Amino acid sequence: MIDTHCHILSEYYDNIDEEIEKIKEAGVKAIIVNGTNMKNCQEVLRLVSKYDIVYGAIGFHPTELEDVNLDCLDFIEKNISNDKIVAIGEIGLDYHYDNTDKEKQQLFFRRQLEIASKYHKPVIIHSRDAIGDTYNILKEYSVSGTLHCYSGSLEMAREFIKLGYKLGIGGIITYKNAKTIKEVVRDIDLSYILLETDSPYLTPEPFRGKPNMPSYIPLICNEIASLKGLSNEEVARVTMENANRLFDF
Ligand code: NI
Repeated sequence: MIDTHCHILSEYYDNIDEEIEKIKEAGVKAIIVNGTNMKNCQEVLRLVSKYDIVYGAIGFHPTELEDVNLDCLDFIEKNISNDKIVAIGEIGLDYHYDNTDKEKQQLFFRRQLEIASKYHKPVIIHSRDAIGDTYNILKEYSVSGTLHCYSGSLEMAREFIKLGYKLGIGGIITYKNAKTIKEVVRDIDLSYILLETDSPYLTPEPFRGKPNMPSYIPLICNEIASLKGLSNEEVARVTMENANRLFDF
């Protein structure tokens, strides 16, 4: 299994060596650590060179643009050809907060999509309360990627898939009241689904409320298997192939 979206960073975990050991013990083959700002993107570069199983995504998150200017994008261009940087992420739109600067978010979203297109790299998308604008902007670029922690409708899921995107499914799928996403997972072909934890957030049941970690990825895999009436092995195998095809590890 591969955790296609997590934040195993020193701002969240005291002992990264220990986390990596637990991840290996759980049989997780690779994790993609996503940066969200300049500081933790630099840490992502250090982590990918230190640990075999760690791959990275670098990018500027829509709610962390305060100190970001257009020159910062050079950092992505400079490091995007690193063998272990497999995507631009976590990027996207987040209109959740009242003080949202939509214009700035859209500008940086577009600029990062342009870089992805130029270097033929997939993108890892964050979209919160902004699904319509996310879709309309992605439609303008011929880029592939994943909608991390997909939380939209079945109808929108089908539209994103038509654009060439996969759906990142995480711990929420294990929550009792997560009706819509369960419906999406039941209906969408397994070939469009990626496993992810978004650690340290969105911890799956039965550990909800505690910090999340990539070693919990089997809980998500098994829940998808039971929703779709497939074996755990089948879901592990197909989602791993999906991740391999998209990120070209
Ligand atoms: Ni994330």
